[in-house]
Order: sequence, then structure tokens, then C-alpha cells
Amino acid sequence: MKKLFVKTYGCQMNAYDSAKMADLLAPLGYEAADAPDGADMVILNTCHIRERAAEKVYSELGRLKALKADKARDGGRMLLAVAGCVAQAEGEEIVARQPAVDLVVGPQSYHRLPEMIARAARDQGHALETDFPALEKFDSIPAPSESGVSAFLTVQEGCDKFCTFCVVPYTRGSEQSRPPEAILREARQLADKGARELVLLGQNVNAYNGPASGDKGWSLARLCDAIAKIEGIARIRYTTSHPRDMADDLIAAHGDNPKLMPYLHLPVQSGSDAVLEAMNRQHNKDDYRRLVERIRKARPDIALTSDFIVGFPGESDADFEATLQLVRDIGYATAFSFKYSKRPGTPASTMRKQIPEDLKTARLDVLQKMLLAQQYAFDDSQIGKTVAVLFEKPARRDGQIMGRTPYLQPVHVQAGPHMIGQMAPVRIERRTANSLHGALA
Ligand code: 5AD
Ligand code: SF4
Repeated sequence: MKKLFVKTYGCQMNAYDSAKMADLLAPLGYEAADAPDGADMVILNTCHIRERAAEKVYSELGRLKALKADKARDGGRMLLAVAGCVAQAEGEEIVARQPAVDLVVGPQSYHRLPEMIARAARDQGHALETDFPALEKFDSIPAPSESGVSAFLTVQEGCDKFCTFCVVPYTRGSEQSRPPEAILREARQLADKGARELVLLGQNVNAYNGPASGDKGWSLARLCDAIAKIEGIARIRYTTSHPRDMADDLIAAHGDNPKLMPYLHLPVQSGSDAVLEAMNRQHNKDDYRRLVERIRKARPDIALTSDFIVGFPGESDADFEATLQLVRDIGYATAFSFKYSKRPGTPASTMRKQIPEDLKTARLDVLQKMLLAQQYAFDDSQIGKTVAVLFEKPARRDGQIMGRTPYLQPVHVQAGPHMIGQMAPVRIERRTANSLHGALA
């Protein structure tokens, strides 16, 4: 067997894609290795969303070049591949800067990997694929080889929103939805392998519009209804959603589809209308508030989470205060928050009135304290309640297993491993920093 080491950066979709690449390469004799040393192939599945992402990839490639040289000295060959969003954004620049790289493959071209490997092996040259064909990349991928209790399933990729700070529309291309039949087939395969929860992934997942013949297309709500009928599937989640695409039927589904979990990641980014406008978010703060009201009417206990950016160009003290006010008003179960940072090629990177770093840091600190207090309050509100927990894996402490509440909170419980994959009522007893603890009820 040949050894394959995949290093994954960034989002859940990259984690999903890495597993798919491993499945795709298994028939070629590659099996997973847990370190790059001596591997026959190393794939860096990169992320472009954080600052200096490309620089970090180049320094990692520098280290891998040395391992590749070691392997060559031993008479072997290590293929070095760069995949993901940095591959898409940098393209040929990668091989120009690091000639040890054999393959550069963008997120829409993973199905071409076997052919690219053959090409690289034959002529020892570089192979590069960074165009955007349709979502055919999924067609040639074999059935999943294994599944955890909770499994990712990509249903949609790309984004047409063009928020002015974001690289995704450039690195993942325009919105494309996988056909519902292909998704349902994969969902059944995952259920057969033991998945009880499916997390539907898309950069703009609620814009899902599944191509269907003679039909106006499948909405995400319809897809969730069909998935709910698959035997073995007990829970459905989806991420990430844009407020503009929160359709009526999807809101209603949160009340009607009992397998759709009461948890929604609905990024707002800012609570200031001026900033939202400059971000090209296509909604204002009151649109968002009204939307949350409608969602809570359909599903009163829904846990909301969000992403926030502080220090967007032009953000005044009053703008930042408006964000804090929105957070106070909505009340989040948890949230991610970031300092704005420039992404080359995006409109915001050349906007005037960039905010000084120390002010960004100070604002982030204030926001994160508020969000953490809300998270603790939400977690504490579960203490004393009995909630359905789906058990996923052994916990770090002996004799304990880890599962999740409907609101995605991790819970540690004293119970045997035979409970993994099962759902059971748990009485929540206490909270530590990052998880809840309870007992089988
Ligand atoms: N600066 C800071 N945060 C960003 N995000 C995306 N682009 C940037 C950027 N240029 C954040 C957004 C998005 C999350 C995935 O990453 O909040 O929702
Ligand atoms: Fe980026 Fe999300 Fe905006 Fe699309 S909707 S441009 S992925 S932040």
C-alpha cells in the first residue's frame, strides 16, 4: 500500500473534501497515514479565509520539500499536492514559488486527481487544474468508505453574494447545487455506514436549488424532508446560511420537520446598517431582527449562532455599539467573531478608512466577552433539564462518552461505548468551560 497524508485547514467543507479525496485515491492503493514523513503523497487542503493564508502554505511547503528530498534519497517519490482555496486563488504561482509541488488542484477539480497523479508520475512535470466545471466532481467518487455518527454531506458549493470582505465567490466560484438524487444516494450510503446525523454543507447552503427535471427545483426544506425519511437518520443540520436566502418553507420546516435540529448558524457580521451596506450584505439590521422573529415563531427554542467581523473599514464607535446592541437583543447560543483583515482582490481591501489594529483588538475583546457570557447563560439554562443526546464517540475521560444536545452542545456522560450511535435522554447536571455534563435519565 502507498501512504497518503492529507492535512486539512479551514472549514467543514474542506474536512468533507479531504475525506472524499482519500476515498477517491483508495482504489489507486493509497491508504491514510497520520504523518507526512515517508508518505507517497501529501495533500495540503488549504483555506484562504484567514490572514496570510498563502504565506502559511508556502512555509509548510518548505518543510515538506525537505521530507520529499529524504524520500528521494531513499529511492522513493513523494507527490506533493496543494488543494483547496489557496490552490484555486494562487494557481500557477504555487509551482513558480515552490517547484517541489507536483499537483495544484482547485476545489472543483478533485475528481481529476487520479488522472493528474498519472500525468505527474509519467512525465515528472506539474499538473494543474483550477477551472470550475459543474459539480461533476462528485460523480466519480466512490461510496463513502466509513462514517461517523455525525457525517458531513456537501449539497451546494460556491457563492454569488460577493460580500466585499470575502474571497469565497472567487475561490469556490458561483453557486451550484448537487442534484437531489445524488445527495439522497450519498445520504443512504452514509446511513448504511452508521451515520445518524447528517450535516448538510454549502457556502450558502440555504440558497440550495437542486436541479430536477420538469420541476422548479428542490429547495433545502424539501431536501431535508426527503432526508428525514431515510431509515437511520435521526438528525439533520445545515450550514452556512445567508439571511437573504432563508425561505418561508425552510423557516416552516424548523417547526414541521422533527428531525431538523433547533439550531441555526445565521451570520449577520455587523449590527450597523452603514457597515452592512459597505459589506454588501444585502440586508439591514431590522431585516435580520424580523427574520429572527419569524424563525423563533416557527421554532421558539431554536439556538442561534452567528459570525461577526469587527473593524470593517469605516466602522465607527457608534457602528460597533450597534453590533453590541444587536447581540444583546438577539441573544446567541454561541458565535464566531473576527477582526477584519484584508483579502487581496476583494473590494474592502482597498476601501479608505481602514481601522487601526489596536482598535480592532479592543473591539473584538469587548464583543467576545459579551458573546461568551451569552454562551454560558445559554449552556446554564440547560442545567436541570432532560434533553435528547446523540452519542458520538468515547470521551477523553475513561468510562465516559460524548454526545450532543439538539442545540449542538457537547455533553459528557458516564456510559458504555455500546451507547455510541444511540440517542438517549440525559439529565444535564453541570457545565465546565466547553461542555455540559449529565447522567442518563
Ligand atoms: N476578515 C475577517 N473575517 C472574515 N470572514 C470572511 N472574510 C473575512 C475577512 N476578510 C469571516 C466572516 C465569515 C467567516 C467564515 O469568516 O465572518 O462569515
Ligand atoms: Fe462570503 Fe458568505 Fe458573503 Fe458568500 S455570503 S460572499 S461566502 S461571507
